[in-house]
Amino acid sequence: MAKWASSLSQWAEERWNLKKGLSPILDTEVTEYKTKMRFCWGGMTFALIVLELITGIFLAYYYQPSVKGAFQSIAFITDQVYLGWLVRGIHHYASYLIIVTVVVHMMIVFFRGAYKPPREMTWVSGIFLLVLCFAFSFTGYLLTWDQRGYWATRIGTGMASELPIIGEYLMIFLQGGYGVKQPTITRFFISHVIVLPVFLIGLLVAHFLMIRRQGVKKPF
Ligand code: HEM
Repeated sequence: MAKWASSLSQWAEERWNLKKGLSPILDTEVTEYKTKMRFCWGGMTFALIVLELITGIFLAYYYQPSVKGAFQSIAFITDQVYLGWLVRGIHHYASYLIIVTVVVHMMIVFFRGAYKPPREMTWVSGIFLLVLCFAFSFTGYLLTWDQRGYWATRIGTGMASELPIIGEYLMIFLQGGYGVKQPTITRFFISHVIVLPVFLIGLLVAHFLMIRRQGVKKPF
């Protein structure tokens, strides 16, 4: 460790005694089989989620969740803001990658039989995480307020409206009324940047606590 890093760590250690608290995580040996590719997909999904949170915060500094401002603010981010195109591009493509990695993770867990007791609640929390990943994509799609986002949302809320009994109420709840308009952007924006992240963080904590408590299932 570099000299400055070790004196910084000593300085922090004297004040907060972090090593003791973090030792169950830092000192756990990663057994040989866990370094295999098939055990990495959950972690890759998590790394991408962290990337989404960071780039999402930067985008939120410039984005305007309104019918008048949404498209212009996206164009401003892409064309005028320093490295805005890069931050937006990372946020955009990482969202597709998350869907790929999470589905591969789920399939590997399934074929390894890692959903069986005592890990069934880890699986259930995973199902909720999967739904959240789709909800992030669905709500994020509208925010650009272009033709693609608008019509994708119309199709999505239209599909919801076809559900028996609750369909119409669900559509009105999602859109904030009849039609995809300003209340829809407001709802989708608040869901995308506040409601869904809160649920996501809570579920990730539950998912990880269960994995640590039970350990990753032995191969294969
Ligand atoms: C946001 C999405 C998710 C993240 C970040 C995530 C993260 C992780 C990580 C890091 C692990 C430990 C190592 C590994 O097997 O990869 C894991 C294990 C596990 N995950 Fe996920 N996961 C997610 C979604 C899911 C989904 C959709 C399911 C299934 C429906 C699921 C079910 C499980 C199960 C059952 C285990 C235990 C595997 C074992 O013990 O071998 N996870 N997850």
